[in-house]
Amino acid sequence: MRFNDTQEQTGAPLIDPFGRTIDYLRLSVTDRCDFRCVYCMAENMHFLPKAEILTLEELDRLSTAFIEHGVKRLRLTGGEPLVRKGIMTLVSSLSRHLETGALEELTVTTNGSQLSRFAKDLAAAGVRRLNVSIDSLKEERFRAITRWGRFQQVMDGIDAALAEGIKIKLNVVALKGVNEDEFDDMIRFCHERGMDLTFIETMPMGEIDQDRTDQYLPLSKVKQDLAQNWTLTPTPYKTGGPASYMNIKETGGRIGFITPLSHNFCESCNRVRVTCTGTLFMCLGQEDAADLRAPLRASESNDGLMQAIYHAIERKPKGHDFAIDRLTNRPSIGRHMSVTGG
Ligand code: GTP
Ligand code: 5AD
Ligand code: SF4
Repeated sequence: MRFNDTQEQTGAPLIDPFGRTIDYLRLSVTDRCDFRCVYCMAENMHFLPKAEILTLEELDRLSTAFIEHGVKRLRLTGGEPLVRKGIMTLVSSLSRHLETGALEELTVTTNGSQLSRFAKDLAAAGVRRLNVSIDSLKEERFRAITRWGRFQQVMDGIDAALAEGIKIKLNVVALKGVNEDEFDDMIRFCHERGMDLTFIETMPMGEIDQDRTDQYLPLSKVKQDLAQNWTLTPTPYKTGGPASYMNIKETGGRIGFITPLSHNFCESCNRVRVTCTGTLFMCLGQEDAADLRAPLRASESNDGLMQAIYHAIERKPKGHDFAIDRLTNRPSIGRHMSVTGG
């Protein structure tokens, strides 16, 4: 697709060279986090100076430009999005697009630590679904994985969100030798509360203090193991994300599998990511990116911004190149997951 003035003026949808329509934006609102999950961050992280981070107004303007060009679903991510100062100002402001119907869904992926504080406001702003990342339901283990996380605070947060009528999906990164003995308990925990559960394969992103090859657990193996204890049947249910789902007869609930390594789902990718500095990543598993901050700050008009977005979408790659590399043990992608929020 070629960018031209007509496209910008008519709000032409964002379609990549493989014919995929981009209608889902993941916007990272901060690189900071109040946890230090061992597979995500090193303990001693250097965060960005404030001047480099988009202001709340800029985040709003950027999101609005995407929405005017066909983005129907917006997910706020981090770092931990709810530690961004003034985050509810942004969420409340963005909710106007839900009211007009331009946006179908406004969601957040969170570690849950701030939910007790924000659940009410999120619900009031029209947030109907939240994804909460949690890799263990055992307090000690939770602490070991997150380094800084407080388990009870997250549990209280989940309860607060459920009490507001917000649907929750728990995201669990499947880690060999770390949490694989808990998957049955996690299914019970979620389904008793009417929550979905998704398992994610660990992706080789960012230098961490541990060996990822040791932690990688293919979800095909997890599925096989779960089938010993549960009656699993595939379902076509989709949230628009990369997870494929299975129903569990015994609980009446659903579990999802996100398998970037063992089964590639890139052919149906509908999404791009923008970091809190305004860098557009066309694929989670590739380095190519486009700077949107410069055109955003250069002019009050969105022409330059949209031109940069269209040009970037023209370069959206077919898929990621993730591989768990036994020989070098180097991450495929140098940046941490917290830069793009997954
Ligand atoms: P919904 O479908 O809207 O519920 O979202 P989701 O499951 O895509 O969102 P969530 O934030 O819960 O994402 C969970 C994780 O899935 C992300 O953090 C990533 O680790 C992974 N993921 C999501 N989208 C992609 C993608 O396009 N490519 C890859 N490789 N992984 C993805
Ligand atoms: N591989 C897979 N998932 C990861 N996450 C963070 N780092 C990784 C990784 N290396 C997950 C978090 C959260 C989401 C934002 O990304 O657990 O669910
Ligand atoms: Fe924070 Fe999420 Fe990374 Fe954990 S995985 S350190 S909660 S951004």
